[in-house]
Amino acid sequence: MDEERIAIVTGASSGIGRATAARFARRGLRVVAAARRKDALDQLVAEAAGGPGTIVPVAADMTTPRAAGKLLEAAEREWGPAAVAVLAAGRGLPGTILGSDPLRWAEIIEVNYLSMLEQLRAFGSDFRQRETAAARDIVVIGSTAGRQVSAANPVYGSTKFAVHSLVEALRQEVCGDGVRVTLIEPGFVRSGFQDAAGYDMQWFAAVTEESGPLLVPDDVAATVEFVVDRPAHVHLDDIRLRPTRQRI
Ligand SMILES: NC(=O)c1ccc[n+]([C@@H]2O[C@H](COP(=O)([O-])OP(=O)(O)OC[C@H]3O[C@@H](n4cnc5c(N)ncnc54)[C@H](OP(=O)(O)O)[C@@H]3O)[C@@H](O)[C@H]2O)c1
Repeated sequence: MDEERIAIVTGASSGIGRATAARFARRGLRVVAAARRKDALDQLVAEAAGGPGTIVPVAADMTTPRAAGKLLEAAEREWGPAAVAVLAAGRGLPGTILGSDPLRWAEIIEVNYLSMLEQLRAFGSDFRQRETAAARDIVVIGSTAGRQVSAANPVYGSTKFAVHSLVEALRQEVCGDGVRVTLIEPGFVRSGFQDAAGYDMQWFAAVTEESGPLLVPDDVAATVEFVVDRPAHVHLDDIRLRPTRQRI
């Protein structure tokens, strides 16, 4: 990887985003790490202290106006233009169409879909205008639930289906300007995701029993690192990874 590149990672207070920011810092990158929980970001910064990279924490709710633009400005203020954006902020929603809580539908669509659309617009338009042959990467964390319809979590899954289509559309829009847009589709990852979504942990224990060992966040972070490590003329556009024993 070009260690000179400046990275922005959303969802950096927990799980996949956190593991990615930590990995980047271990590689010596300068990282703007964003999430709502500042105390968790401060903990990440403390753990990375003394290592080769630098992490600057930015408390941000990605559903608020211009959230992505403010992260680009934070990078610029600290060091210069960002060239890597890893979009890992998101959350789940348990339940079927009949069984999920309708009062939570708007919230999940807002964070997983509308805010992602705005982030893609902001990072896409910023990265495409840079006149450089160096790699610029937008890496989006989708889901196997956005690839395979499941009656178990269709509301969450449909936000990921929608995001997958946006990622491919943005790839087509900006590839000519040398910007790589990559979708990563993990299967089950044990992270803060299950608690934040309010999963039935008995159900999740059965999933773990059937499909485990599950992925850990760093398995996905290592995939992100592999993607952004490719030479500038090589683009991996879509990677799916699952626990070996996960059937669908
Ligand atoms: N875990 C899985 O099984 C799995 C599988 C496939 C895909 N994914 C996807 O992977 C991504 C990361 O999930 P994870 O497993 O790492 O879950 P996680 O541990 O719960 O992390 C989610 C991150 O998103 C942030 N976030 C949530 N809402 C936000 C908002 N409105 N504004 C800013 N940040 C927000 C959270 O930070 P704050 O709460 O501090 O804001 C947290 O840092 C999500 O898009 C998820 O859909 C997860």
